[in-house]
Amino acid sequence: MIFWLKSFTSLLVVLTTLVIADDPCRFEHSKGVIDLRSLARTDGKAAYPDKTESAGANYLYSYNPCKPFSEVGDCIDVAVCQISRDKENVFSLGEQESATWNPGEGPDDSPSITYRSGIREASVTLICATNETNKLEVLGEDPEDYYKFRLTNKCACWNGCDGTPPQRNCTINGSTYTSDKQIIRSLPFTVLINPPQPQPSPPTFSYANVDRNSHVIELILVNIPNIPLALFCLSNLQELSIFNSPNVVIPPEISRLSFSLTSLIVSNISQSGSLPVELFNLELLSTLSIINGGLEVLSEDANKLISLTQLTLDKNRLVSLPWALGNLSSLTSLSVNDNLHLSSLDVLHGSTSLNILRASNCMINHLPANIPNLHVIELDGNQLTSLDGLDTTASHTSTSFSFNNNKIVSISSVSLARMEILNYFYLSNNLLTTLPDSLYLIKDMKKLDIQNNNFDAKEKAWIEGIFRVTNTTVLV
Ligand SMILES: *[C@@H]1O[C@H](CO)[C@@H](O)[C@H](O)[C@H]1NC(C)=O
Ligand SMILES: *[C@@H]1O[C@H](CO)[C@@H](O)[C@H](O)[C@H]1NC(C)=O
Ligand SMILES: *[C@@H]1O[C@H](CO)[C@@H](O)[C@H](O)[C@H]1NC(C)=O
Ligand SMILES: *[C@@H]1O[C@H](CO)[C@@H](O)[C@H](O)[C@H]1NC(C)=O
Ligand SMILES: *[C@@H]1O[C@H](CO)[C@@H](O)[C@H](O)[C@H]1NC(C)=O
Ligand SMILES: *[C@@H]1O[C@H](CO)[C@@H](O)[C@H](O)[C@H]1NC(C)=O
Repeated sequence: MIFWLKSFTSLLVVLTTLVIADDPCRFEHSKGVIDLRSLARTDGKAAYPDKTESAGANYLYSYNPCKPFSEVGDCIDVAVCQISRDKENVFSLGEQESATWNPGEGPDDSPSITYRSGIREASVTLICATNETNKLEVLGEDPEDYYKFRLTNKCACWNGCDGTPPQRNCTINGSTYTSDKQIIRSLPFTVLINPPQPQPSPPTFSYANVDRNSHVIELILVNIPNIPLALFCLSNLQELSIFNSPNVVIPPEISRLSFSLTSLIVSNISQSGSLPVELFNLELLSTLSIINGGLEVLSEDANKLISLTQLTLDKNRLVSLPWALGNLSSLTSLSVNDNLHLSSLDVLHGSTSLNILRASNCMINHLPANIPNLHVIELDGNQLTSLDGLDTTASHTSTSFSFNNNKIVSISSVSLARMEILNYFYLSNNLLTTLPDSLYLIKDMKKLDIQNNNFDAKEKAWIEGIFRVTNTTVLV
């Protein structure tokens, strides 16, 4: 009998561990109901993509409450995904079916939802917001394989949301809008809704990606006369791009999107040359591109863009860059190509987050110092006469350096002495007569382009000979 009871109990234990998962979308408890349905993206993408723990951290995390999403590798139909910046390592941190809820112990303790995938676990604490804040924060891995996140939103409150998207009326420029659909219908130009993939790049027509909750998530506008203010009532808009619209000026109302916008790309807009200070209130902004907009200065207020990872300011009229750029601790990629009067990148001194620097066709006459994690440098078409300082300006294991079309007379041995790996090195159209010995010691060199320099025939034969042994493609 006792034996029978024992096996019955262990059977029960097995059963309860099997039937442990909860509804990933909704949790009912004596404290109330939490319903995450209106936060979910339903198009297979993550509602909270590519978040990092901190400055220059190596891993990106994406989360979608309630519905599965897919990225690459192991992250197919998951709830939480971890992916390294180089996309080499991809892990699922949990599937929707594994969700378990915890109401929090005391009456004021926040509830949480935990997901599991193999040995990994991800726990999202839900922080009740009284305003429109909608953000996911990565708190980190502790202990090993246990990842903590914090989601702040109205729907994280007990009885905060009932699953239908909260109906908020939005008033702007004297008109009130009750839905994203009404806003799109009010626009004085045609916007295609969810056009078939893939879209031409660059886009040739205006379109919107709209999710099943009828939220406009992405909006791409091409050749529009101006920005209708109604757009700034699209309270779930994550990505806004505007191309080939020579009369478009970004208005101060852009800050209305600060609760959702992660990407702002404008290219070939008005040459008015300035940005509204309100733009710097977009604290979720991760990608900012202002291309061919006549920009003369970027304000020091850029230091408020604490989530910025990619900044592109090509084809403007910048003469200098703000010191703030060296302080943006999440900035990994900066492009300032074709600013014909930009002569210095010294503001980047000390940046540990920057991996990619593009500044071709400017007037740069010396390398910035002390950017230890750069592994792609493109400085074609500048005024460089040497590569002095490169030893502190690049990672010792780098991908590509490009210094075509400069006035480089010689490369000191010390500037390459600490390089261990470099895959591509472009030095065509300079004034070189010899290469430093330290260059021959660099490993994994796939391609070296030294065309149109001042090497004599014997020097060329030497260089070709040395690199024949390492199978490096040499263009002389
Ligand atoms: C939203 O409310 C939270 C507290 O609930 C506060 O910390 C935050 O600053 C508020 N954000 C804005 C933009 O008002
Ligand atoms: C929003 O506007 C509609 C139509 O004008 C109105 O019926 C509704 O009560 C408003 N809702 C709120 C929450 O103000
Ligand atoms: C503001 O509203 C007026 C009247 O409806 C409209 O003609 C104008 O285009 C709107 N301005 C913008 C920038 O949306
Ligand atoms: C900029 O936009 C105008 C108007 O659409 C177009 O004619 C022009 O070719 C565009 N320029 C570039 C560089 O794309
Ligand atoms: C940059 O960071 C340094 C050190 O944290 C600080 O002293 C300086 O004021 C910052 N500069 C700007 C423009 O924020
Ligand atoms: C160069 O290529 C040859 C033939 O593919 C190969 O045998 C040799 O190991 C390679 N050498 C190096 C240094 O990669």
